[in-house]
Amino acid sequence: MNNYDLYLPTHIIFGKDRISELHEVLSSFGKNVLLTYGGGSIKKIGLYDKVIAELKTAGKNVFELNGIEPNPKISSVREGVKICKNEHIDVILAVGGGSVIDCSKNIAAGAYYDGDPWDLVLDSSKVGRAVPIVTVLTLSATGSEYDNSAVISNAETNEKLPIFGNNLNPAVSFLDPQYTFSVSKNQTAAGAVDCMSHTFESYLVKKGTLLTDALCEGMLKTVIEYTPKALKNPEDYEARANLMQACSLGCNGILAIGRDTSAWVCHAIEHELSAYYDITHGVGLAIVTPSFMRYALNEDTVDRFAQYGERVFGIKKATPMETANEAIIKTEEFFKSIGMPSKLRDLGISDEHFDDMATHIEEHWFAPLSIAIRPVDHKGIVEILRNAL
Ligand code: NZQ
Ligand code: ZN
Repeated sequence: MNNYDLYLPTHIIFGKDRISELHEVLSSFGKNVLLTYGGGSIKKIGLYDKVIAELKTAGKNVFELNGIEPNPKISSVREGVKICKNEHIDVILAVGGGSVIDCSKNIAAGAYYDGDPWDLVLDSSKVGRAVPIVTVLTLSATGSEYDNSAVISNAETNEKLPIFGNNLNPAVSFLDPQYTFSVSKNQTAAGAVDCMSHTFESYLVKKGTLLTDALCEGMLKTVIEYTPKALKNPEDYEARANLMQACSLGCNGILAIGRDTSAWVCHAIEHELSAYYDITHGVGLAIVTPSFMRYALNEDTVDRFAQYGERVFGIKKATPMETANEAIIKTEEFFKSIGMPSKLRDLGISDEHFDDMATHIEEHWFAPLSIAIRPVDHKGIVEILRNAL
């Protein structure tokens, strides 16, 4: 087993109607709160009013940053940093999906940084102190509510990059599956794919461990079992709860403890697609993942793919290679069955920027792609993208 670090300081408050505990939670932070949210879904579901009532009970001064966009932009981060600095914000209350939480994380670090917060995205070693963050999650997908990273886009430079820092872990995250009842079918499915992709990124490495293999397989089975149920009946609490639980564990490193380090290839490629075309993260992953799997499957890697096929889908073909190939087909079929597109052309994407994307990944991705289950280089990135056209 490999050495590892795991630091998960977030207090998770999971379950129905736990929002009534928010005022107590907030009592251990200072007076000035920056409430961050997106384009209005939290108002439609009545959550905004509940949060405001809790803030009132807690006796806080509330400042707001709303309109945070999916694939959150550095421009929103800059606005939030300005408020934090001018109003001496003590805690950020992020209510929404991964985009709102991610934007809040960059704001939190930017509040204690003298320069432009984009510097922090370009170089996470500059992330130091951060304003504490409390989150109320409304969409099961990214795991941002329980991890130390965020992903920020810069529309001017066509870049979408991750930022990391142990001070970016939310202090507290409220996970009430009821707040995800209103998530659209497309976002529900995209969130499921994102969770599966986080799992694949950890699972599809050369060397795993018995425990974490089982954790990953359990995650995948959970998402495959409950996503169709949530799509069929959006208010199926058990389905939404199982998805929320799985998604929240997807990105915080727990699936990777003791395993070989992952290169997160599908995420590297998808972030490029989102940077250029502003597409939904999980939708991009649904297209890139099968193409990456086909690229990665060979005589050296076949056993891992066959294990995935056998343990997750119960496939048992005559040879490991047949089982592995069938597993990729099943993955693709599952994504289609939940309404995800399977080709980049379905999103109007051509090969125009593939070379630039590959170059950008080589220059900026946090992990060397040479450590992937099958090493990937510039040519490999373009091949994976081309095969997804
Ligand atoms: O803006 P509002 O009105 O809230 O609408 C949002 C948004 O349009 C809507 N929504 C959220 N909760 C809802 C709801 N609609 C109805 N009912 C609700 N309860 O859904 C839309 C998408 O929201 P967004 O936050 O963008 O989705 P998600 O949670 O999937 O976040 C995606 C972002 O997170 C990044 C992605 O790249 C992308 O930028 N990621 C962050 C990671 C992390 N921090 O660890 C890891 C991931 O791999 C990922 O890269
Ligand atoms: Zn993701």
